Amino acid sequence: MWTVLILILSAAYLFYKWYTQKYDYFETRGIPYIKAKFPLGNLPNAILFMRNFLYDFDDIYQQFRGKESLVGYFETRSPQFLILSPDIAKKILTTHFASFHDNEFSNLFTVEMEPVMARNPFILKGQEWKEKRAEITPAFTSSRLRACFPLIEEVLIKFTKYIRDEFEKDNNKIFDVRNICHRFTVDAVSSCIFNADAQSFASEKPEIAEMGRKLVEFHGIIQFIQFMLISMFPNIRKYFKMPMVDKVAENFFINLMQQAVELRETNPIPREDFMSFLIELKKKKSISEIEMAAHGVTFFTDGTETSSLAIAHILYELADNKKAQGKLRKEINDKIIDENGKIIFDKMLDSEYLNQVFYESLRLHEPIGIYNRQCNEETVLDCGNGKRYKVEKGMSVNIPIHSIHRDPDYYLNPNEFIPERFDPENGGPKAFEDRGVLLPFGDGPRICLGRRFAVIQVKAAVVEIIRNFEMSVNEKTQRPLIIDTSTFLNAKKGGLWLNIQPIV
Ligand code: HEM
Repeated sequence: MWTVLILILSAAYLFYKWYTQKYDYFETRGIPYIKAKFPLGNLPNAILFMRNFLYDFDDIYQQFRGKESLVGYFETRSPQFLILSPDIAKKILTTHFASFHDNEFSNLFTVEMEPVMARNPFILKGQEWKEKRAEITPAFTSSRLRACFPLIEEVLIKFTKYIRDEFEKDNNKIFDVRNICHRFTVDAVSSCIFNADAQSFASEKPEIAEMGRKLVEFHGIIQFIQFMLISMFPNIRKYFKMPMVDKVAENFFINLMQQAVELRETNPIPREDFMSFLIELKKKKSISEIEMAAHGVTFFTDGTETSSLAIAHILYELADNKKAQGKLRKEINDKIIDENGKIIFDKMLDSEYLNQVFYESLRLHEPIGIYNRQCNEETVLDCGNGKRYKVEKGMSVNIPIHSIHRDPDYYLNPNEFIPERFDPENGGPKAFEDRGVLLPFGDGPRICLGRRFAVIQVKAAVVEIIRNFEMSVNEKTQRPLIIDTSTFLNAKKGGLWLNIQPIV
């Protein structure tokens, strides 16, 4: 009996020693840090699914902001860095890129097990990332983006018709803008990439949207546990034989791409769009069907959720700020719409107030709130005042853009929606981007690949809705807004419910 007890206690003690062996990592190196709490480290609420991880990061940020440029913290037992200074963050994303070119997501997927998802540039590493990014970048030329616009316009008509029809059926109807904006982006991206009609406004369970969701959601508890374990111990990925993505959804997109290519090859259209780019690529580099599908899925997964959240938050902020809504409507009617009621593409992109509204909403509700980089080559970060801190190979650095965007040192009344802060007199959004305090699309060589497409589809949707409808916030919206607990993207708990009434 005593022997068993002693054995158990010894094993527990050894496990504790092993588990906590790195808890003095920062102390011994003279790096500012927050003490680890056994066993969960410094992000306990996120790990226990009690609140979104951005709030745990923000607690650390608030404790050290203005005092340190970076701080060490612990994710369970692993020491990591949180970057507080926008200047150092910018350096990591740009000038120090050669030492920080990958992110932690790359540990989750392998080309053997997730052949489509693992080929997304967001997930790829090193040389492979460089090659794939270079391969797909020309898909976003100005002429291709312009060629997509008529397809987006067709979806805009369906979008407004859907809201009008719903309103006619029930004058008291309220809309969760997250839901309807997601329908819009799924239709717009499917049309631009797969030349397919996703039927998002015609059906309550549109297949393409459902399959897209399946591709990025966890499918079952075992897969979730696998995800947590791989996040904590990346080296064990090779021992798990269960794919991280839903195979039915993956095959669905491979087939969809095959059909789209066949259709275009048998019925060529003289249009310089994404599909023509992919078909040229297939001929030039003889890339496989899976690689083609991977490019399509990259656009789909990275382009639908992020953009729909961006549109939904802009509509929410405008519904909550009637003055801004009126000001934007005037700009749209005076400058962006021609005499035939059509959107003037270049005016939409150049209009000042629309641009200010766009960036102010992305500042407050950036779809991706934290940027992760893994150090691939030991680097010393010079934090000024003689403070130089070494980041060792394999360590993670995290840039809490959500907290930087709301820091009162960079923004007066940071929690308020004030598009005028990005007035050209203050240098416009560019001045804030240059200082590293406004980075909703990231920065450096890994900056959002679809940024220009996103700007077009988000602005087009906002223009169309604001010119056709008057909006206010419905009390069903839970306020203050809280970021959903279990999402990686900045989606709000309970949805964003608006009253939307046709103007004419
Ligand atoms: C408002 C909408 C969008 C926002 C706010 C956004 C934001 C971002 C951010 C912040 C990153 C970089 C993350 C990091 O540095 O770790 C990123 C990467 C990426 N985005 Fe977007 N994105 C949007 C829309 C899109 C669209 C429409 C597409 C495609 C059509 C797209 C494709 C990508 C890809 C492929 C990457 C990975 C780039 C790389 O690692 O080389 N995004 N996005």
